[in-house]
Amino acid sequence: MIKVITCKDYEEVSDKAAEIMLEVVKSNPQCTLGLATGSSPIGLYKRMIKDHQENGTSYSEVKTYNLDEYVGLPITHPESYYSFMHRNLFDHIDVKEENVHIPSSQGDDLQANCDAYNAALAQAQIDIQVLGIGSDGHIGFNEPGTPFDSVTHITYLKESTIKDNARFFDDDINKVPTQAITMGISNVMAAKKVILLATGTNKAKAVAEAIQGEQNVENAATALQDHPDVYFILDEAAASLLKPQGVEIVNTEKFDSVIANGSVIVDFYADWCGPCKMIAPMLDELAKAYENVRFVKVNVDHDPDVAARFEVTSIPNLCCFKDGQLVNRAVGYQTKDGLIRLIESTM
Ligand code: GLP
Repeated sequence: MIKVITCKDYEEVSDKAAEIMLEVVKSNPQCTLGLATGSSPIGLYKRMIKDHQENGTSYSEVKTYNLDEYVGLPITHPESYYSFMHRNLFDHIDVKEENVHIPSSQGDDLQANCDAYNAALAQAQIDIQVLGIGSDGHIGFNEPGTPFDSVTHITYLKESTIKDNARFFDDDINKVPTQAITMGISNVMAAKKVILLATGTNKAKAVAEAIQGEQNVENAATALQDHPDVYFILDEAAASLLKPQGVEIVNTEKFDSVIANGSVIVDFYADWCGPCKMIAPMLDELAKAYENVRFVKVNVDHDPDVAARFEVTSIPNLCCFKDGQLVNRAVGYQTKDGLIRLIESTM
């Protein structure tokens, strides 16, 4: 399931992304990063640079693989992804140039370049892949129609992508390259962990389809529904078309007996996010059902000790406390349409 983290704004999206990224880098100084271009990850890269400068986190043994590169621009062009990555990240950290990999669109034999990149990726294991998303759902430059089993390939950019990216080329669509080399969707899916960053209403439709729509090649990001560890980190605008979540409390019998005297605190733990939308209605329902009960929202993402204490998994858990003791717990699951169904009490 795609885990959603909804943030206030771009800065908070960048903070959250940096938190996840730095945890990977700090826990494994020899890790391999999959990196993306575009405006979405710039705040993340700024935070990585700041952390490197202030805390000395080193990238000297880190390897990086970039998603894509335009065809038709020399690497020295300021808008080549080679230039972008050096300007926004590599020039400011201690990554070794020999450990930096960006698909090459130079030379006459672009297919050979794709094959070489695939061969390199086959030898690597990307620990964390950063993604943005196009307004048509593309990840990397995997435009609508790209098969989910695709590997690094040459692609033509859709008109909407050319228009979107014109802002980097003096708003002149004629200056935007029409072709690119991109990692394929299966290369992206091979990463251990994926974080996709999206902000702004322009991304809302693609994001909602990616998370709640049927999987289909017209929106490459829907492939991520099958990834075992993927976070979408969204601002409120990008999350705005996600279908509202509902709550159905199916079995409250055991809770009734515990809650009866009204001195119980209920904490809600969820280690998938998007919870702002999902937890709030649930707490409202509970508050209506039980007077004199205080409902406390805890997001285990920010409270790993609590998560560990109760072995919280990726399903909603309702924990009832009485006199400081955990006296009851319910588990539930999230249905495909986002409804949380509490199914039973486990104590
Ligand atoms: C480009 C890149 C993608 C990126 C997308 C979104 O097309 N090839 O990797 O995710 O733009 O860009 P932005 O983050 O600027 O919205």
